[in-house]
Amino acid sequence: MTEKIKQGLKTQFMGKKIFFFKDTHSTNDIAKELASKGAEAGTIVISEKQSNGRGRLGRRWLSPEGGLWFSIILKPRIKPNEVFKLTFLTAVVVVRTLRKKFKLNAQIKWPNDILINGKKVCGVLSEIITNLSGRINFVIIGIGINANIDLNSFPERLRFSITSIRSELKKEIDREDFLCTLLIELENYYLLLTDGGFDLILEEWKDLNCVLDAYVEVESLDRTIKGQAVDIAKDGALLIKLENGSVNRVISGDVILKRFYKIRLKAESEKIS
Ligand code: BTN
Repeated sequence: MTEKIKQGLKTQFMGKKIFFFKDTHSTNDIAKELASKGAEAGTIVISEKQSNGRGRLGRRWLSPEGGLWFSIILKPRIKPNEVFKLTFLTAVVVVRTLRKKFKLNAQIKWPNDILINGKKVCGVLSEIITNLSGRINFVIIGIGINANIDLNSFPERLRFSITSIRSELKKEIDREDFLCTLLIELENYYLLLTDGGFDLILEEWKDLNCVLDAYVEVESLDRTIKGQAVDIAKDGALLIKLENGSVNRVISGDVILKRFYKIRLKAESEKIS
């Protein structure tokens, strides 16, 4: 796999070093270890399977054979509270690539889910390691893509909410070719970001997302907020307009899109008046 990827990669630094595993616990953990031992920015860790794949909010990330489970080491000169920019950038690149290569109806769901026809196909887990003065030493961007996965290998309860590229296209994809395209685009977007181009990336994120304007329920650890998603704040928080007109910031949580919420609200207000 590694050789084929290297041949297809025409990048300055992304993927110049690739560590490939048949099976490991978590590529994010391996990438962290490598980075703390001095691995260069752009180093990639890929595994065919993960026994302890990690998702957002401490969740397990199922990583059977056939997926694309990989992590990238980056050393950006940004502040810890700007790391969301890398997550947004990654989501934009994954969606662009899915659309361009396979004409799939891919969209971003805040903060870091990639959906196809409303079902999750990819997640991004960005983790940072800071030094004693709170500056970023490195960032690990972990990307999990359900590429050539047979959905039957996932528990039944998940099958209504997740999908794979193979299941959408009804055929297997060339994972190496897909990964090369992704990494080339990731490098281009990363260079744009380091060149001060985040506003452009955010504009594109907004074009590709399915949350803004929608009526949503956001479940975070301690509360559930219901309202209309109206914007993204400067720090990546989702802004939700509540029924009483006030705007709430959400910095982490799960968004549930409420297709019928607007209609219900309208019906309820008609009942009252
Ligand atoms: C999410 O919760 O949506 C984020 C999932 C991120 C999974 C990827 S798979 C490669 C990398 N290694 C991990 O343990 N997690 C990330």
